Amino acid sequence: MAIEFHKDSQTFHLHNAFISYIFKVLPSGHLGQLYYGRAIHDRPDFDHLFETAYRSMSVHYFDGEPAYSLEHIKQEYPTCGTGDIHLPALDAAAPNGSRLLDLHYQSHTIAPGKPPLEGGELPSTYVESPDEAVTLTVTLADALAGVTVDLVYTLYEGLPVLTRHAVIGYTGEGTLRLDRAMSFCLDLPDMDYDLVELTGAWARERHVVTRPLAHGVQGVYSLRGCSSHHFNPFLALKRHETTEFAGEVYGFSLVYSGNFAAQADVDPYHVTRVTMGIHPQGFRWDLHSGERFTTPEAVLVYSEQGLNGMSQTYHQLYRTRLARGEWRDKVRPILVNNWEATYFDFTEEKLLGLAAEAKRLGIELFVLDDGWFTNRNDDHGGLGDWQINYEKLPDGIQGFGAKLHEMGLLFGLWIEPEMVNAGTALWNEHPDWVLHEPGRRPQQGRFQYVLDYSNPAVVDWIFARLCSVLDGVPVDYIKWDMNRSISDAYSCTAASDAQGMVLHKYILGVYRLYRLLTERYPHILFESCASGGARFDPGMLACAPQCWTSDDTDAVERLRIQYGTSFVYPVSSMGAHVAAAPNHQVGRITSLTMRANVAIFGAFGYELDLTALGEHGQDLVARQVAFVKKYRELLQFGTFWRLKSPFEGNEAAWMTVSSDQRTALVGQYLILQEVNAGYRRLRLAGLDPDRLYRVTRLGSGARAAGQPVTAYGDELMRAGLVTTDEDPASEGDFASHLYLIEAAE
Ligand code: GLA
Repeated sequence: MAIEFHKDSQTFHLHNAFISYIFKVLPSGHLGQLYYGRAIHDRPDFDHLFETAYRSMSVHYFDGEPAYSLEHIKQEYPTCGTGDIHLPALDAAAPNGSRLLDLHYQSHTIAPGKPPLEGGELPSTYVESPDEAVTLTVTLADALAGVTVDLVYTLYEGLPVLTRHAVIGYTGEGTLRLDRAMSFCLDLPDMDYDLVELTGAWARERHVVTRPLAHGVQGVYSLRGCSSHHFNPFLALKRHETTEFAGEVYGFSLVYSGNFAAQADVDPYHVTRVTMGIHPQGFRWDLHSGERFTTPEAVLVYSEQGLNGMSQTYHQLYRTRLARGEWRDKVRPILVNNWEATYFDFTEEKLLGLAAEAKRLGIELFVLDDGWFTNRNDDHGGLGDWQINYEKLPDGIQGFGAKLHEMGLLFGLWIEPEMVNAGTALWNEHPDWVLHEPGRRPQQGRFQYVLDYSNPAVVDWIFARLCSVLDGVPVDYIKWDMNRSISDAYSCTAASDAQGMVLHKYILGVYRLYRLLTERYPHILFESCASGGARFDPGMLACAPQCWTSDDTDAVERLRIQYGTSFVYPVSSMGAHVAAAPNHQVGRITSLTMRANVAIFGAFGYELDLTALGEHGQDLVARQVAFVKKYRELLQFGTFWRLKSPFEGNEAAWMTVSSDQRTALVGQYLILQEVNAGYRRLRLAGLDPDRLYRVTRLGSGARAAGQPVTAYGDELMRAGLVTTDEDPASEGDFASHLYLIEAAE
């Protein structure tokens, strides 16, 4: 691994065993992008990759040199006013109103390791020892404007990963106003790609959508104050022929939980400019002399092993070098959550009955969801005061938690600390702590209002309030929810010229509260949530190692949601529960086996009334729980492969393989049964081609286990596993099978 600077040609070559990323200081002092892709040999110069062209109507940088136009030169961090007449990476207004910026190379440093992002609260990937990565910081400056930009690149040693972000500094007079400060810019030399995005809405998050690139701007974004159900802060560019298993793909993922923009902008000469960062709409950040602004970090992954290759890299990096804390490497406790079992309608007796049954079946953690505090018998009131409802819980959450611990269960609790309902003491005493413009009616979402987390006093107050609730209470797990979009982001306590900073400061406030809580309660397992998966993003993953994937708990819907989520996020991060049938979101009736066979590929749990399942159902749950305990290390930390996409047909399949390639589990799902259907084979992946395996189709609710067969890894991966079903009627629709693959020798 190395980051080399070839002095004579002024060329940077960032390379490891997987990737090369090459750019150079151009004759004009700008940084020109030369190559990003599979690792290539290092050489003292790559100048033949630097292209310029004379094109009519273009603006030339040097007088009398019409071919030197920044519009036609691929760059690293373009600005306005230099002749590059595209969307820039950086757009700032100087005190005299000028938006012209001409950033020239000044200096650079190369150092082992990866420092945290400057400024404190922004989450980022990290290293545990300096030899895991090397970091290049290139400083650019415009002396007239008093602007400096540090472009920071970290190359990981053992992964095809490059992280990028920018730090903008100001040394001039007055105020520099940042209107657009992207985390990175990458100019790729052609447009022969499909854009892959994760899109959806509440209860159908992260569906995979693919479209060929066209000229102009295309991409995804959020303006909701959270990363959103609608789009994820991720996009990939894959070659048209790239599949899950083979071919080139570039992944781009932003470690950020607020408003973002991720764009590919293709110019008429087919150059594709990728940018990602905080969405410029409504954003404005003022810098005074000596101040600096740090953008969120973007994580660039290159794969030649198709989309699975890209995803496996993200999984490994995000599971081990983004997530943090005591729970990072621990298998996750099997939980039962009372939300879909009781909603707001519970008594302690009912909860303890559910807990006792859970314990009897082997479940380890009981999660008390929404409704444990005063004025919270529906979603119209109660948020903000965090006063315990002693009518529901006579001994408080302390007593309730103690009872769970006596039963041998861990205790989990739901909170929604960013919100307030009208009528609470918090609302009455601090009307200026609610995001809204005085004189204008604040807007409701789910009957609630958003606290102004851009104001540190609000975060401090909530932290103190939560500490007074949690201190001395035996809480082992917290589900932190956030249940509305932010639409009227005006801070009553911020100055008029600081309103454009509110949403970014808001999310920094969220990160700070997470930090304060995780530092104070390091043993607590945090799960993030935002009406299901509206904040399933890398920023949250740095705060909480798992996230509630979706409010849609239907197993068939979950095939698509978990499949799409796995494009970036590891199985261990996806909260996945077995819920009731008929399902509460879609009314679909699926077997307990199908529901569990989908949810085990996640942070597994139950979210239904276990006491109402009957003896047969309860026996099955006990067996499922025992199964997950036996295989969760493999399920949660193995290498995950997507095999068949539920977006493309009636069948879905995925598998996970242990790091020593001795054990694997395959989940295969048939959405609708087909009568007299054709033969079916499923090609597996990730096995040792030379190892002999024993393959067992595990028993399901309706069927006994199959007779084990033996096969070499190469046979299972090339010829495939025969999954032809000779008796479809015995299982009906929404059928699923698990195959256990074990080393036979
Ligand atoms: C959100 C969450 C649910 C549940 C409810 C409680 O919708 O996504 O899982 O916690 O809030 O109000």
